[in-house]
Amino acid sequence: MNSALVDEAVELARSLPKAELHMHLEGALQPELVFKFSERNDKTPPFATIAELRAEYEFTDLADFISLFLKCFNSLETAQDYEDLTNDYSEHALADNVVHAEIFVEAQASNDADQLMAGCLKAAARWQEKGLDLLFIPTFLRHMPLAEALKSFDELEPYHDIIGGIGLASVEVGFPPENFRLLFDRARELGIKGVAHAGEEGPPEYVWGAIDDLGVERVDHGNRSIEDPVLMARLARDQIPLTMCPLSNLRLCVIDELGNHPLKRFLDAGVNVTVNSDDPAYFGGYLNENFEQTIRALNLHPTDVREIVQNAHDAKFPSPSRNG
Ligand code: ADE
Ligand code: ZN
Repeated sequence: MNSALVDEAVELARSLPKAELHMHLEGALQPELVFKFSERNDKTPPFATIAELRAEYEFTDLADFISLFLKCFNSLETAQDYEDLTNDYSEHALADNVVHAEIFVEAQASNDADQLMAGCLKAAARWQEKGLDLLFIPTFLRHMPLAEALKSFDELEPYHDIIGGIGLASVEVGFPPENFRLLFDRARELGIKGVAHAGEEGPPEYVWGAIDDLGVERVDHGNRSIEDPVLMARLARDQIPLTMCPLSNLRLCVIDELGNHPLKRFLDAGVNVTVNSDDPAYFGGYLNENFEQTIRALNLHPTDVREIVQNAHDAKFPSPSRNG
């Protein structure tokens, strides 16, 4: 494709109002904030200096990343920390023309889920006035036992009516979605929607497990569905959205180069794919950077961009509350 069309596609991606559906709040924790929160909470930061922490940002795989991610977010403690962190992400999001963001929060792994929710909700009220809707989706840790996830879900009971849904994340291989069927059934009975990371490193069977056993409304990543033509046909037929994260895939070695990202092949197969930043502080870019690098690497056309952006709007969850 000629380079003027690619530039046009990049400009279009920048200027369109967008929805971001796959972003982990703790993945927006820039190194400066790790040190700020550690100091404020009288905690020892995970590394002696910001430069030393940044030097750790070379990941070999998902497990390698999760280990650093967990160390860093241990600096978060109070509602003020979560409010500041939500504000920091939201400034970037609004600058990128994001008008709706669904944000994963690590309720189960957090030190205090009430502090987490209080800070996030306070920030959300402020950003709504500025034209950015924020929804929060607590995620559960698939490498931990189901009982721990159920306990965390029950502890979130005061927020069941105001969360956007629930999610399943963390190290994938060896922890198939069906282990968490009871959790997703329980949420569905309460009218709470579900999403799950699947097919990031795990095989296509995990994507089948997410859609058939957990009944999720969207699949986070889903890359390895490309290996299973029957699954691809199912995703296309039922218009099950995939929240893809190209820069994350590159930095976690899910792909060897951006030009080999499968996103365009999903689009061509009629699958409802979206572009997202996943953990922007760690993977080198917020939403517009993900769009720009992906458009250039895959030679996406402006019509592809319109479709991807519209897909995300179509796949948004409604704002709570279910009670009112
Ligand atoms: N938690 C934060 N980022 C994640 C990712 N890319 N995959 C699984 N769990 C995560
Ligand atoms: Zn993710």
